[in-house]
Amino acid sequence: MLLQIPNVLTEEEMTHCRQVLDEAQWIDGRVTAGRQSALAKDNMQLPENHPAARQLSDSILAALERSPLFMSAALPLKVFPPLFNRYQGGQSFGNHVDNAIRQVTGTPHRVRTDLSATLFLNPPAEYDGGELVIEDTFGVHQVKLPAGHLILYPSSSLHHVRPVTRGSRLASFFWVQSMVRDDGQRTLLFDLDSAIQRLNEETPNHPADVQLTAVYHNLLRRWADA
Ligand code: NI
Repeated sequence: MLLQIPNVLTEEEMTHCRQVLDEAQWIDGRVTAGRQSALAKDNMQLPENHPAARQLSDSILAALERSPLFMSAALPLKVFPPLFNRYQGGQSFGNHVDNAIRQVTGTPHRVRTDLSATLFLNPPAEYDGGELVIEDTFGVHQVKLPAGHLILYPSSSLHHVRPVTRGSRLASFFWVQSMVRDDGQRTLLFDLDSAIQRLNEETPNHPADVQLTAVYHNLLRRWADA
């Protein structure tokens, strides 16, 4: 499933974020890349232990917890602390697949990457290129979203970032280990949850609600690890 989640960050959070990113010292993005992706990767990142980046990362995690759409679609068990990157002057990230397992730096914690996420942090008008291109069985998708919007996609998909030929592209990126590792099962649960919510909005107290909600939870019980 490829899903856009609009307005993850508020205007105020975006302004603060932008201020921090504009003042930050960036380093070579290859520090967090695996063997194959290090060959393809050409961008800059904020150091993982950067105090302001840690603060931004925490506020993104809090924003995700407030987003019913993210919670329903990702069913997160663990979220890798969001990192930050910048592409400019022709920088790009060639075709790659994200590492299956990521160790959270300086901790014993590991995250299996079921879902990858990119949160766009500056408006598309500020740069040319920089599309996130994701390949799945339905074809090739080009993604370039307004500031504060997020794209969620299966970590199993090949993807790349096209060269940024004007301006700078700022984004946050992270991975999610879902309670439901299988993308197909997770997508069914998301579709069912969305349908139940729609039913409740359009026909409150419909007698089928309790049955459908039971089916949702009983499927989740079968498929989820918590
Ligand atoms: Ni990637």
